[in-house]
Amino acid sequence: SADETKVLKMGTSADFPPFESRNAEGKEVGFDIDLANHIADELGYTLEINDMKFDGLIGALQTGRVDMVLSGMSATDERKQNVDFSTEYNRSGEFFVTEKDSDLKSIEDLEGKTV
Ligand code: ARG
Repeated sequence: SADETKVLKMGTSADFPPFESRNAEGKEVGFDIDLANHIADELGYTLEINDMKFDGLIGALQTGRVDMVLSGMSATDERKQNVDFSTEYNRSGEFFVTEKDSDLKSIEDLEGKTV
């Protein structure tokens, strides 16, 4: 019914752009926020974002304080003993592109350069 609010609680640590961070207005933004909103929409839930320390995320999930964690989290063997991981949703096969034989191959190479 309309008065029945289904809330999907997401845990994240909004300090990891472009996955999750806070914009100038203090609002959580980023790829994981967009993905979580999409998941909530698909399920017919309202997303509730719980921003916390990265190290507290797995505990929050284990104690039911959040329903899911999206926080750029890698599936390590240690973490896999305590929580389940989805199929991988991000493998960046994307690169920044420069002209042939450029010496710009990493973010570090851009340091001190002007366009
Ligand atoms: N991928 C790394 C990990 O799982 C870093 C993730 C950091 N995420 C964050 N929201 N601070 O350990």
